[in-house]
Amino acid sequence: MTPKNIVLVGFMGTGKSSVGKILAKKLGRRFVDVDAWIEDSERTKIRDIFESRGEAAFRVLEKAAIAHFSAEEGLVLTTGGGAVLDPDNLAALRTNGVIVALMATPETVYQRVRHSRHRPLLNGEDMFSEIRRLMEIRRPHYEGADLRFDTDGCTAAQVAVMIAGALENKS
Ligand code: S3P
Repeated sequence: MTPKNIVLVGFMGTGKSSVGKILAKKLGRRFVDVDAWIEDSERTKIRDIFESRGEAAFRVLEKAAIAHFSAEEGLVLTTGGGAVLDPDNLAALRTNGVIVALMATPETVYQRVRHSRHRPLLNGEDMFSEIRRLMEIRRPHYEGADLRFDTDGCTAAQVAVMIAGALENKS
């Protein structure tokens, strides 16, 4: 198995954090969720950072956290859905990491996140349209990952097994 970081990327609601947690346990690796780490170090919820300081301020924190953890090895690292839109983030993550994208249809994402209140980008009137719109813009960024997995109809545990198997075969 690769000593590199295993970096989970993908749209909101594709299961990155749940899968990452299970995968890390399975592989005996340290799990770092970039969003959770930012919330801990800022002692604030992401939603409140967006509200009080704006998205740009959040992106600065996200970039610093990604640069920090990209210098490490052997992690399972999960990033927020917008992290790979910044080419600097992707370049940093790639230096020491295998990039694994979790994919899902807009319908699946909607079903998974529709009751969630902690995603500031999906707080508007028509959540489903916004998911579709953002996903179209972001899809190319996720499609450039080293490995991709469709998560529709899968549990987080099943996705973790698929990723572990693919990484085993890759090395
Ligand atoms: C964002 C996704 C969120 C969080 C922030 C912005 C995005 O993380 O980083 O709300 O731009 O897609 P999840 O993908 O874990 O929901």
